[in-house]
Amino acid sequence: MQGPRRKMKVMVMMTMVFIFIVVEVSRNAGKGDSNRNKQLVPTKRFWAKDLPSDTYWNRLQQQLNYINNRNLGKLNFTIDKLPDWLNDTVSLDSCEPDFRVTTQVKDYNSLPDRFKDFLLYMRCRSYPIVVDQPNMCKDPPFLLLGIKSLVPHFDRRQAIRESWGKAGHLANKTVVTVFLLGNAAMEDHFPDLSKMLHHESSIHGDILQWDYRDTFFNLTIKEVLFLEWLRTRCPGVSYIFKGDDDVFVNTIRIIDFLSNLSHAKAKELFVGDVITNAGPHRDKKVKYFIPESMFVGTYPAYAGGGGYLFSGQLIQKLHNISRSVPLYPIDDVYTGMCLKKLGLAPEKHKGFRTFDIEAKYRNNACAYKSLMLVHPRSPQHMIQIWAWLNDPALNC
Ligand SMILES: *[C@@H]1O[C@H](CO)[C@@H](O)[C@H](O)[C@H]1NC(C)=O
Ligand SMILES: *[C@@H]1O[C@H](CO)[C@@H](O)[C@H](O)[C@H]1NC(C)=O
Ligand SMILES: *[C@@H]1O[C@H](CO)[C@@H](O)[C@H](O)[C@H]1NC(C)=O
Ligand SMILES: *[C@@H]1O[C@H](CO)[C@@H](O)[C@H](O)[C@H]1NC(C)=O
Ligand SMILES: *[C@@H]1O[C@H](CO)[C@@H](O)[C@H](O)[C@H]1NC(C)=O
Ligand SMILES: *[C@@H]1O[C@H](CO)[C@@H](O)[C@H](O)[C@H]1NC(C)=O
Repeated sequence: MQGPRRKMKVMVMMTMVFIFIVVEVSRNAGKGDSNRNKQLVPTKRFWAKDLPSDTYWNRLQQQLNYINNRNLGKLNFTIDKLPDWLNDTVSLDSCEPDFRVTTQVKDYNSLPDRFKDFLLYMRCRSYPIVVDQPNMCKDPPFLLLGIKSLVPHFDRRQAIRESWGKAGHLANKTVVTVFLLGNAAMEDHFPDLSKMLHHESSIHGDILQWDYRDTFFNLTIKEVLFLEWLRTRCPGVSYIFKGDDDVFVNTIRIIDFLSNLSHAKAKELFVGDVITNAGPHRDKKVKYFIPESMFVGTYPAYAGGGGYLFSGQLIQKLHNISRSVPLYPIDDVYTGMCLKKLGLAPEKHKGFRTFDIEAKYRNNACAYKSLMLVHPRSPQHMIQIWAWLNDPALNC
């Protein structure tokens, strides 16, 4: 009996010594951390080493950083003559095509047309709204669903209205739904659906449409215009879901999640299917291809554009900071860039399944009960899943 007891004593002693070391080390680490709160004072003029990037987006970002720092009075020296690459008198808001890009982007002429279009109009952020819903938020809702759609997707919008995007009261909270549209432009060979759209809008009163070409690379415009709309038309909303029209959203689960948030957490909420350590695709065949002449670097953490949730208190901040970030052709990455500039990071929640769930669970009603979002789902499937979830006999 003596042997094991002594062993035990030795082990307890060793454990205590170990704990002591761990505590000391972490206390010291804590001291080290406090240095982080000290302001870092650059010893040199910060822009002097900030050589102009020969990558177009990166250089624009440098210019914006420079302009913003100057506006904030952070530059303590006078400038008689700006370096040429910083002497940019064209404002961010110019909506004239910017033909300088044809020489400023090294391989402009060999880029696919969608890049040429994007670059030419990259500085334009204001397009007129043609269908508005100015009274949507007269009584500020708890949750606003902003759904990116395209004019021809009548069936998807209707399925959403009949299922997860039904406006009104849900779980004792107010929900409003708006669909975000640009133009199905004639130049993109769309049939003229404007009369049908106006009819739809007059019946449902949930369409927002702006006058710009609704293309993949212009989704960032949709983001910026939506933020502007929220800021002016719906500043009192508590939470916003923004997502695609081919997802299923478990709105009940989302309201449940939001209702349980702590006060502190609710303030700067931004959750979704967060992608980290990503960067631009360099393979021309990929939808997300970005040429090196346009962007170099890694992407910040961002929530996949299929759908994410954020707090109404972020509207103004995101809208504001977006003016300091040049438009980027991939909308969810762009929002990640804005968050990063605000010093925030999106939070991953495993209930957001933008890459779908395992095939064997897709027809299992209970599989959806604890999820917040699944992508992709057809209009019929949305209605089916919503019926499953609302069936009082559902027993999971
Ligand atoms: C700016 O620099 C001058 C000298 O170069 C110094 O006297 C002045 O205090 C500085 N101002 C600020 C706000 O740092
Ligand atoms: C910017 O360039 C224009 C035209 O070259 C010049 O007249 C102007 O002085 C420059 N501005 C600054 C602040 O260097
Ligand atoms: C619904 O909300 C109202 C007002 O916020 C509250 O008074 C009521 O108790 C709630 N009902 C339920 C069932 O939670
Ligand atoms: C974005 O929309 C504008 C305005 O309609 C258009 O001129 C431009 O070509 C579009 N850009 C892309 C990349 O489609
Ligand atoms: C929210 O709180 C209710 C009641 O406290 C609980 O039943 C529910 O599981 C919670 N939901 C989430 C998503 O945490
Ligand atoms: C918006 O940005 C300006 C500077 O560009 C800043 O002074 C202001 O406080 C910001 N407002 C909010 C709500 O972040």
